[in-house]
Amino acid sequence: MPDATARPLEPDAWAALARARHSVRDFRPDPVPEPVLREVLGDAITAPSWSNTQPYRLAVASGPLRDRISGELCARFDAGMRARRGGPVERARVAITRTGLPDGDFRVPERYPDDLQPARVACGRGLYEVLGIDRGDLPARDRQMRRNFEFFGAPTVVFLFVHGGLREYAVLDAGVLLQTLMLAAHARGLGTCAQGALAIWAGPVRSAFEVPPQYRLICGVSLGYPSAEPVNAFRPGRAPLEDVLLAPRDA
Ligand SMILES: Cc1cc2nc3c(=O)[nH]c(=O)nc-3n(C[C@H](O)[C@H](O)[C@H](O)COP(=O)(O)O)c2cc1C
Repeated sequence: MPDATARPLEPDAWAALARARHSVRDFRPDPVPEPVLREVLGDAITAPSWSNTQPYRLAVASGPLRDRISGELCARFDAGMRARRGGPVERARVAITRTGLPDGDFRVPERYPDDLQPARVACGRGLYEVLGIDRGDLPARDRQMRRNFEFFGAPTVVFLFVHGGLREYAVLDAGVLLQTLMLAAHARGLGTCAQGALAIWAGPVRSAFEVPPQYRLICGVSLGYPSAEPVNAFRPGRAPLEDVLLAPRDA
């Protein structure tokens, strides 16, 4: 019989950790000490996976490498934005040179499904409100989007790759790893922001690391110590549990 009283961690302590984790979108420049980084990554890889295949790889960048990747991603973002917001000449230039066009391993959804769109809009609205950005202020919105590629000032960024041969199962496993990593970081006073935006352009990351061809970039995670900026107070709520639970059909 399992010991029902055995508790590896007080449930309240676990709940406090899980509930207090949130996305951090402004970091102090203080570096993450190497031993702490290793602990976080070591905890992350304890995540369970499909047949224990661990179908993912991590690429970590700090210091000059982090700066170089950030610079290259920002250059692509800027080129893409010039095309988007610019006139026909700028659009033609991008079409010819292809600079700024996404080269990610996965296609980022342009349109969200209708039933998910309200949550997306509410999240964006809440974030802009905390940042004091008017929804109609496109330059300010672009600047905020660009912060993704500056890793929100984080000293370290972790890129997450999944094995293409396991399709959605590798992506599922990567999600489990991602949350384990974020909680491991949070337990050590670090902040994180998972960023799908960091997979829009794969070129700068692929060229910086030895990435086996079967691995595809799915997202990045900025990692560092949270600043006291108001943006870090943003806490998007969750749908009530009743909305997530499916009702049983009548017997
Ligand atoms: C896979 C994934 C990708 C995300 N991509 C981005 C992103 O590109 N930029 C960003 O600012 N936040 C991104 N987020 C953060 C979500 O917006 C955030 O998790 C959600 O709004 C809930 O807020 P919370 O993390 O503070 O609880 C991402 C989160 C996940 C899990």
